[in-house]
Amino acid sequence: MDKTEFTVRAMRDTDLPTCLTFTQQVKWPHRMGDWQLHFSQGNGSIIEDADGEIAGCILWWDYGSEYASVGLVVVPEHRQGNGLGRTLMDTVMSQTGARNLQLVATVAGTRLYQQCGFEECGFVYQVQGELTAQPEVTNSALSFSDLDETTLKDVIALDAAAYGCSRESLLKAVAATGKGLVAFNEGKPAGFAMLRTSGHGQTLGPVLADNDDTAKALISRLLADETGFIRFDLTEEALALKPWLESLGLAQVDKVSVMVKGKFLPSSQSGVTIYSLISQAFG
Ligand SMILES: CC(C)(COP(=O)(O)OP(=O)(O)OC[C@H]1O[C@@H](n2cnc3c(N)ncnc32)[C@H](O)[C@@H]1OP(=O)(O)O)[C@@H](O)C(=O)NCCC(=O)NCCS
Repeated sequence: MDKTEFTVRAMRDTDLPTCLTFTQQVKWPHRMGDWQLHFSQGNGSIIEDADGEIAGCILWWDYGSEYASVGLVVVPEHRQGNGLGRTLMDTVMSQTGARNLQLVATVAGTRLYQQCGFEECGFVYQVQGELTAQPEVTNSALSFSDLDETTLKDVIALDAAAYGCSRESLLKAVAATGKGLVAFNEGKPAGFAMLRTSGHGQTLGPVLADNDDTAKALISRLLADETGFIRFDLTEEALALKPWLESLGLAQVDKVSVMVKGKFLPSSQSGVTIYSLISQAFG
């Protein structure tokens, strides 16, 4: 196939229905609301053929001059193996400049990302299912506040400490789509969690906390009145929580690689640990 037949252009909101069919074809659970959230916060590109038919999509999210996340990379099956994925990655790598890049890779994407200079640096565990038990809400020294305009400042600061970059705009947008809770220890912010409608039901992420007990307390409180399908994208640091989540009816359904080009900025050294991602694409 002659690659000059294809052109790359900026993604438009009118492309989203086609992009949604792409993710449905690869059995990803995104609904239109998920696509709108990722599109509204990102820089999207589309590759299209000479007839204007969309042949692939990609997005990246700008977390400041040093860091970005890449995701929602899809080329429909009948177009694969012709270099379109590589063209989309090259587009993003030129747009992101000197930023360090992270992504969560499917098995299908790993070779392409390796060819683009990405290396595996960890794993994400997708844990989900119908809640069959309510988590026990234990008493602790912590106090809790709903996520609102005041506590959002604490959320943004905790997230920046853990990620090593600013995700302010993204956190504001995610906060606006659901509900959240912030934990305080002796008046000092100790963690936060957010729950929003997404995919097959609801996603509980991000969850960031100073330790496992704070993370569990936040999750317990956020799930207290919930039923139905809940998804977590857990980091390796959150594995101690997995048996507890399984006792609530959830199960691990996937384990995917985190890959990085350059330096992986998120770190627990700030004293704040990332337990659950907003989404695999956002990180
Ligand atoms: C991952 C994905 C985006 C790759 O897209 P793609 O267009 O097939 O990727 P490319 O064609 O650029 O590269 C794939 C292979 O084709 C080869 N290729 C590149 N240019 C080519 C060309 N002109 N002719 C033939 N083959 C070519 C590449 O070398 C690569 O081969 P290898 O990985 O076997 O070594 C696509 O498989 C996909 O959408 N999968 C499902 C969704 C998914 O998992 N996305 C990744 C999310 S993290």
